[in-house]
Amino acid sequence: MNSKTDRKCLTIILAAGEGKRMASDLPKVLHPVAGLAMVGHVMETAKSAGAEAIAVVVGNQAERVSKAVEDYDPSSTSHIQHERLGTGHAVLAAQDAITDEFDDVVVLNGDVPLIRASTIESARAELNEGADIVVLGFRTADPTGYGRMITEGKNLLAIREHKDATDEERKITFCNSGIMAFRREIMVDVLKAIGNDNTQGEYYLTDAAEVARQKGLEVIASEVPEDETLGVNDRVQLAEVEHIWQQRRRHDLMLSGVSMTAPHTVIFHHDTVVERDAVLEPNLVFGPDVRIAKGATIRSFSHLEGAQVGEGAIVGPFARLRPGTVMGPKARAGNFVEIKAGLVAAGAKINHLSYIGDAEVGAEANIGAGTITCNYDGFGKHKTKIGDGAFIGTNTSLVAPVSIGTNANTAAGSVIYEDVPSDALAIERGKQANLEGKAKVLRERNQARKLATRSTKDA
Ligand code: UD1
Ligand code: MG
Repeated sequence: MNSKTDRKCLTIILAAGEGKRMASDLPKVLHPVAGLAMVGHVMETAKSAGAEAIAVVVGNQAERVSKAVEDYDPSSTSHIQHERLGTGHAVLAAQDAITDEFDDVVVLNGDVPLIRASTIESARAELNEGADIVVLGFRTADPTGYGRMITEGKNLLAIREHKDATDEERKITFCNSGIMAFRREIMVDVLKAIGNDNTQGEYYLTDAAEVARQKGLEVIASEVPEDETLGVNDRVQLAEVEHIWQQRRRHDLMLSGVSMTAPHTVIFHHDTVVERDAVLEPNLVFGPDVRIAKGATIRSFSHLEGAQVGEGAIVGPFARLRPGTVMGPKARAGNFVEIKAGLVAAGAKINHLSYIGDAEVGAEANIGAGTITCNYDGFGKHKTKIGDGAFIGTNTSLVAPVSIGTNANTAAGSVIYEDVPSDALAIERGKQANLEGKAKVLRERNQARKLATRSTKDA
């Protein structure tokens, strides 16, 4: 029997807090880590850990948080905690969701985004083995502010909030992460028996441990690494969490076959996909929705979003790929090249100083330095089509809509505003005139003027 598949799980995520220390108009749990709101990370992890249903407790800016939560997962439900009377009270705001179809109920915090699915799974495995409540704790050098776990072997006797703890209890360095798993059958009775007779006059979820013991239930503590339990209260902690998230992703990608010479300078989005044998040079930023295929190289100082880079393609240094861009196998985009909604076919080269927008670039086409697609006329965007094997001369302006035929050429410096047939050479520029001896005449006249001014100054 496999606990992961047989037992049904509801996850309740607490996200009602104000997050005053963020000093922000944006609700705390919507602040992003790797581009995804913290509560989004927690929801993703809950799902990976087998949650069949997700209930989110909202309060501060409830509508905004509910909307975001429903966008991430339309099957999730939001529950409003009208008054903030403590974590125990918050969980009960989602009481409607705690129905008898579930065996396990996991409580997570919306501002603790680094918890791993495997950790939640191991807590659920303990429920499967007979525990009624499992509380995840961590050891830390500075336990100030956290609830202390009072244990006897594996058994958890009580959790004492810092503010309510004795000096002796405050010496305990094993702390409550805030993450708990309950056997659903006993949960609501336990929560309803929690009182608010404490320093803060709040209903503490943590008191579930003591209450359950008094009912003769089995409550156990399980240890998790500290980095998974980091909570975000201010933007300094937000940056710490971002840093750890990025480190984890770099580590995982390197182990899956991606090379990075300076991994700490490469910033990923939560959904970035990089296949094996890709090489990522230093100083890169990945925005949303980027996919790098096998063996591609992204050279230093490039910024990519909404782009796919094909097998063996080379992008950068100093390239910017914007949404809708697809680089085919072995295609190239070199330094100071910006591509927006560009379909660049296999082996095509755009190596220097170009803007390619709303364009199709054919296979093996060569786009000369300084080529610009003039795709916008102030009202609408227009398409440029460049055929396979075409050769676009340096400093060509392609005024869209325009199409360049297969194997056609454009002469350097041309402004191309009419379609060019296949195999044609288009030249659009003033005719060159060589004025014999004219340079010499100008030079001598200028030298004579210089001499004249000098002798007037000397006089
Ligand atoms: C809580 C734990 C503490 C633990 C710490 C870990 C309690 C009583 N204490 O303390 O043992 O060491 O987390 O970080 O649970 N929330 C609501 N509604 C409320 C109150 C809180 O939704 O009425 C939410 C908050 O937004 C937050 C979470 O519950 O996401 C935890 O609340 P917080 O105030 O941060 O509790 P701590 O004092 O940090
Ligand atoms: Mg907290």
